[in-house]
Amino acid sequence: MGAGMDLELEGKTALVTGGSRGIGKAIARELATCGCSVVLTARGVEALDLTARELGQETGQQVTGVPCDLTSTEEVERMVEEAANLFGGRIDILVNNAAAPGGLARGPLSSIKDEDVLNDLNTKVMGYLRCARAVAPYMVRHNWGRIINIGGTSARRASGNLSAGVRNAGLVNFTKYLAEDLGPSGVTVNIVHPGATRTERSAPMYQEQARQQGITVEEVEARVASGNSTKRIVDARELAYVVAFLASPRSIAISGEVISASGGAGQAVFH
Ligand SMILES: NC(=O)c1ccc[n+]([C@@H]2O[C@H](COP(=O)([O-])OP(=O)(O)OC[C@H]3O[C@@H](n4cnc5c(N)ncnc54)[C@H](OP(=O)(O)O)[C@@H]3O)[C@@H](O)[C@H]2O)c1
Repeated sequence: MGAGMDLELEGKTALVTGGSRGIGKAIARELATCGCSVVLTARGVEALDLTARELGQETGQQVTGVPCDLTSTEEVERMVEEAANLFGGRIDILVNNAAAPGGLARGPLSSIKDEDVLNDLNTKVMGYLRCARAVAPYMVRHNWGRIINIGGTSARRASGNLSAGVRNAGLVNFTKYLAEDLGPSGVTVNIVHPGATRTERSAPMYQEQARQQGITVEEVEARVASGNSTKRIVDARELAYVVAFLASPRSIAISGEVISASGGAGQAVFH
């Protein structure tokens, strides 16, 4: 009998930015469950340590928090060096995920503040670039690596959320740039767009929206899901399955691509 698909992630090492909560935490959990050693990074030390301990106990893998503000090049370089030392000089997988979800710059043009747009770009676009640049030499040295950027379906529509869309659209181009640059060294790079994804932030957020709109939480959720082909809200864990596949050696056929892991958000057809 032939064996089913094994993601071959056992023993690999992964760095997940924004891994202390939300989508990043779900991705870190899935990678550790698949046998990876994981370093999580975020600014808040307390949440980082709690999450690292929780995931380490749950999966039996080495999961370590290394604090870092991704808006600082020096901090990123120090954090990546520390992660590499913890992993014996090998970083196989980078998941660029940390950002303020939805971005800070939103609303009508007249209300947009330069500093909000610049902050959003500095964290998400420049933060991803800083991490990729610092991690790439370790991947190139071993002639193998996987980089997964977390974007957002806001890249594909005008949502009134200025920097969410601008930074995610920009990251698509950055993903292809990285894929071209690192492809000859055995590194693939792809971007995964979450749609509205269920994380620990969701329940209080939907409760608040229900209160404001005078409808039930179920009605709010149905409205959120109505734009998806599947008519359901994707859970962070389900998004993490997609990322785990892209992190696997088995995904070698895919590089420089955009994958929407939203349950089929929107009706536009992308060729
Ligand atoms: N949730 C959704 O529905 C959704 C939809 C589309 C796209 N996305 C994208 O998915 C990613 C994760 O979103 P999420 O909902 O999981 O967000 P979240 O729950 O707010 O988590 C964000 C993570 O990023 C970290 N972070 C933020 N700024 C940072 C910085 N300057 N340096 C280091 N770490 C930083 C946070 O920790 P600290 O604050 O402690 O630093 C936290 O660990 C984001 O890129 C977001 O744009 C999410």
